[in-house]
Order: sequence, then C-alpha cells, then structure tokens
Amino acid sequence: MLLNATWESPSNIALVKYWGKKGIQIPANPSLSFTLNEAKTRTEITLLEKTSNDDYQIKVIFEGKEAPNFEGKIIQFLNRTTHLFTFTKEYQLQIETANTFPHSSGIASSASGMSALALCLCTLEEQIENNKTLDFYRKASIAARLGSGSACRSVYGGLVSWGKHPLYPGSSDEFATVLEPTEVFEGFYGFIDAILLVDIGEKEVSSTLGHSLLEKHPFAETRYATANNNMGAIKTALKEGDIELFTKIVEAEAMMLHALMMTSNPYFILMKPNTLAIIQKVWDFRKQTGIHTVITLDAGANVHILFHEQYKETVIDFIKTDLVMHCSEKKYICSSIGNGPAQIK
Ligand code: DP6
Repeated sequence: MLLNATWESPSNIALVKYWGKKGIQIPANPSLSFTLNEAKTRTEITLLEKTSNDDYQIKVIFEGKEAPNFEGKIIQFLNRTTHLFTFTKEYQLQIETANTFPHSSGIASSASGMSALALCLCTLEEQIENNKTLDFYRKASIAARLGSGSACRSVYGGLVSWGKHPLYPGSSDEFATVLEPTEVFEGFYGFIDAILLVDIGEKEVSSTLGHSLLEKHPFAETRYATANNNMGAIKTALKEGDIELFTKIVEAEAMMLHALMMTSNPYFILMKPNTLAIIQKVWDFRKQTGIHTVITLDAGANVHILFHEQYKETVIDFIKTDLVMHCSEKKYICSSIGNGPAQIK
C-alpha cells in the first residue's frame, strides 16, 4: 500500500512575541498568537522505497517544481524529530508543498510549512503503526516546534499560547495549547488581520540570527520579564473584552520587538519608511473614527492591522484609498481568525 498524507496548515500572527530561545527550540519567553485562516501551506508526503544509503532520502517539490534548496532545512527537521518519527530513515520521502499566499510575499512560511510537515508525519506514523496516536495534535505541535518555534502554535486554531506561564494552565515550553473559548470574549474570534505587504523580498534577518541576537542583548532580561507580564495582562484583556488594554499590549509588543532589533549587536532597522507611514495613518484613522485598528509587526517591514469584522467595509476602504500606495505592488492580504489545520487526505 502506498503511504501518503496531505495536510493544509495556516500561518499565525503573534500578539505576544517569541523572540529569543534556549537549547533546542525552547522559547526564552511565552508567546500568544491568532491562527489565521488564509496564508496556508498545503503539503503532501508520499513514502516510497529507499534507493540510497543516505540517512534521509527526500525529494521536495515546491509549487510544482523540484526545489533542492529546501532540502537542507527539511533534513535538519527530520534529524531533530527522528526520536518522534523513526520511520523517516526507512523510506524515501516525496514532499510536495505549495503556499496559498503569493511566493516571496514577505510572509514567513515556516509556521505554516513546518506545521503541515509535522502533521503529515503524524498521520503517516498512524498508517504505519495502524494505530491512533494518543494526543495527536500535541505530538504534531512538539514536532512542528522542532522545525520552527512559531509553527507549534499553527497546529491549533483560535488563540494559541506556547511557553510555560503560571496563568496558563497546562502550558509548556515543548508544545502549544489553546486558550479555551470560555477564557476569551467572543468578539475576538471575529477579528481580521489585514497584512500590508510593504516588502516582498527575502527576509533581511533570518529568524535563526534574530533569536540569537537576544543571547547577549543588554535588554534581554527586561524583555523576558515584560513578555511574561504581557502574557498575564493580555489574558485579562481577552477575557474581559478590554480592547484598550489589548491594543496597548499588542502594539507595545511589536514596538519592543523592533526596538530589540535596533539595539542588538549587530543592529538592524527592519521597518521601512512605508512601514512608519502606514502606522502613523492607522493611528490617525483610529483617533478620527474611534474604530479599533490595532497594529502589529513581525520581524520585517510588513504591517498587520487587526480589527473586528463589523468594521471590515470601512477599514478596507481606508486601506484601498490611503494605505495601498505604501505597499509593494499595492498588495495586501486579508485573513480572518482560523480554526487551524485541516487534513486533506
Ligand atoms: C517575530 O518561529 O520563525 O515571528 O524558531 O527560528 O524558526 P524559529 O523562529 P520563528 O520566529 C518567529 C518570530 C516572530 C514572533 C512570533 O511569531 O512569535
């Protein structure tokens, strides 16, 4: 029988940021994210008979074309997860993968890509063992984390935390956990993330380098303490539907991430003039209309605007008339909050 599995897994946007790690993919502080509905990676793995003596034999096809440049990262992932999936050394893995968002849109695909891979491996393991894996999603989250930290949060939908924190029962540094809907004011599930694509090139600072900059960072301890406090405060904001507090924390997290980058050794400015132009206009719009448009940034120049779907028409009009001129090729992506990955086959 041909063993084969296909999963589609989404990207996520961090509200409290993971920035800095210890050991093998252990976060320096806990983080929290919204899982998105768009910006997905679809991955299919087929197990074939091995034809070489190499530890791992893989063939990667990205968006219909052979992509040997992806192999290094995937082999590193297989190496790190070999204790979880011993079968990966016994077969040749044919990995066909594609993103639903434009290639090189500046959106990190490691979260969606690594979570899709991890989920496929969990399904294949079930087929080989002919047995249901206990805690399937937890295992997928542990494996995804070993590929890319933020990927462990993409295994679940809604609001997802990762990293041990006393106010998050069952939280762990090894895998992500979902915030129970009873812990979240319903309105937050109606949020939209409009991603304004300011820079569609390759990432200027790889996440590996970015995280390592925290190791000798003069503000590292303050950063970790702030992130821990923000995890506590955002929990209150989410439970009580306190949008003012939510806004303050989410925006402060984005600013701190970039402030850390600017004060690292070596230092980087990842915002572009267009990033600042958009932020200023969004803040003016919020002041003038009273509509809560909340800014966040990842480790790049793109701007994420979070807002409730009831304001979609007004905010999209605003984006089209005032903001797209600051975007690369006038591009932006709009995503609602998603339910997490889906098994296709
Ligand atoms: C700024 O998860 O890409 O997006 O573990 O090295 O793959 P690796 O890092 P990655 O880092 C994400 C950093 C961030 C914040 C976040 O998503 O929490």
